[in-house]
Amino acid sequence: MKQRGEKFAMLTAYDYPTARAAQVAGVHSLLVGDSMGMVVLGHSSTREIPLSALLLVAEAVRRGAPSPFLIGDMPFEAMASGDSAVLAAAHAFLTAGCDAVKIECEPHHAELIGKVSRAGIPAIAHLGLRPQAVTTSDGYRAQARDDAGLRELVAIARRMEQAGASMLLIEAVPPEAAEAVCRAVSILVVGCGAGPSCDGHVVVTHDMLGLGPAKPPKFVPVLADLNGAIESAMKRYVAAIAGGEYPGPQHSYSMRSITHGANR
Ligand code: KIV
Repeated sequence: MKQRGEKFAMLTAYDYPTARAAQVAGVHSLLVGDSMGMVVLGHSSTREIPLSALLLVAEAVRRGAPSPFLIGDMPFEAMASGDSAVLAAAHAFLTAGCDAVKIECEPHHAELIGKVSRAGIPAIAHLGLRPQAVTTSDGYRAQARDDAGLRELVAIARRMEQAGASMLLIEAVPPEAAEAVCRAVSILVVGCGAGPSCDGHVVVTHDMLGLGPAKPPKFVPVLADLNGAIESAMKRYVAAIAGGEYPGPQHSYSMRSITHGANR
């Protein structure tokens, strides 16, 4: 797609029906993101989600979406347990149906990216804002907003490419910083709030669909109001039961035959 000058669309997916919808809609890539811990499970950070939950979901997403390039997100649990835990988790993601793994990277993680890619597992280095490093709700801030930050981002991007990363994901940086990264590397760059020059773009699906309590970051295109749709349907359900309209004859099974005297 890059060679044809086409941009790719990536979304997060945390379940089978959403994956099916993404497949039908022609979404090119899906990420089983650790944001699931916050968005679906209600945790206050992305750190709590266990690898086992991500693997279970990755399998379901693959069942729903056979075509998209599927990425498993390396959870904090594995990152905090050392390189061999990360390598084992990366293999488990592949077994679950993923094509690649994404790893939130500080500069010293170049070695880890090298180990994963030498093991034959495409590794995506997540740079810029790294949610696993955020421990307070006001910690979600744009990165690389000055010259020094931009240079640092470009340097780490180059380092990850040299180490063997097959793609970069840069989150919450100004378009100028993303453009500098795109010029500095030849691998694909996917942006998450990183301006138009990236090769593809990703947002959290629930944010894009207007689903859930969180106010989405400013870079998210909110294209639906599923909170509104779900709440209104649930209110109608409650009202239909209260008013005796549900269940009606159309929701009820009929008897095949009535045996006279069955109750005697
Ligand atoms: O887990 C996730 O959803 C992510 C995206 C924000 C890129 O890492």
